[in-house]
Amino acid sequence: MVKEYEVPGMGWKVIHHACVDSTNEVAKRAGDLGAVHGTVFWADRQNAGKGRRGRSWYSEETGNLYFSILLRPDFSPRVTSMLTLLMAYVVAKVIGEETKLNALIKWPNDIVVNEKKVCGILSEMKLNGSKQEYCVIGVGINVMQKQFPQDLRDLATSLYREAVKSIEKEMLLHRILTCFQQEYERFLVTKNLTTILEPYNDMLVNMDRQVRVLDPKGEYEGIARGVTETGELLVETGDGQYQKVYAGEVSVRGLYGYV
Ligand code: BTN
Repeated sequence: MVKEYEVPGMGWKVIHHACVDSTNEVAKRAGDLGAVHGTVFWADRQNAGKGRRGRSWYSEETGNLYFSILLRPDFSPRVTSMLTLLMAYVVAKVIGEETKLNALIKWPNDIVVNEKKVCGILSEMKLNGSKQEYCVIGVGINVMQKQFPQDLRDLATSLYREAVKSIEKEMLLHRILTCFQQEYERFLVTKNLTTILEPYNDMLVNMDRQVRVLDPKGEYEGIARGVTETGELLVETGDGQYQKVYAGEVSVRGLYGYV
């Protein structure tokens, strides 16, 4: 069964399915058929949930939250890529407010609690030449998952496991959507991350920690010193130089085995 509604005061259309292949795929198919800016798709389960770098995203648990927002921004793909960081900030902020957990961001867009991953974000864009038709920001949050497979136990956790209380996923979704819409309006003014830069960096789990940068031209190590207003990670290398690292190239060594 499909349910369609609006979150009061928000104006974005929200569409709920019991089970889909992937909410990102549902959003992209809808985008191809002309769905409007701000349409949100969420599901209780996904049978082909997608993660970053071609991985799959475990989505069998009905207590977890899986959703994707379809946006039709009229700015360049480079600007659009910052929306993933904006979403990471919003998710960490709302999780912190709703659970009182110390939710932190592992650059660019994983959310960690007690050094384990609780949320992943997968953004996709449809381009027409150099212009984008739409983008989809997909978010998976381990909300009520009680058990994790042996190989993930040290790497992943859920809000329920860390907060030891039940959290209602639909309420969490509506809080995230409301906060994201507000932050998106502010983002439209600057088209960069200045509006969230300070709190984003305050929540950055990598801050002042050793990172290993997986650069196609060669790996190197340094100390993460925060993100720039356009979303790159600043890494201080041993010789006192700073490198700007673009999303997708960096991983953290020795702290989080899931990277
Ligand atoms: C990651 O690898 O960390 C990103 C995971 C993103 C998972 C979410 S769940 C909702 C949306 N639909 C998908 O198929 N993937 C994203």
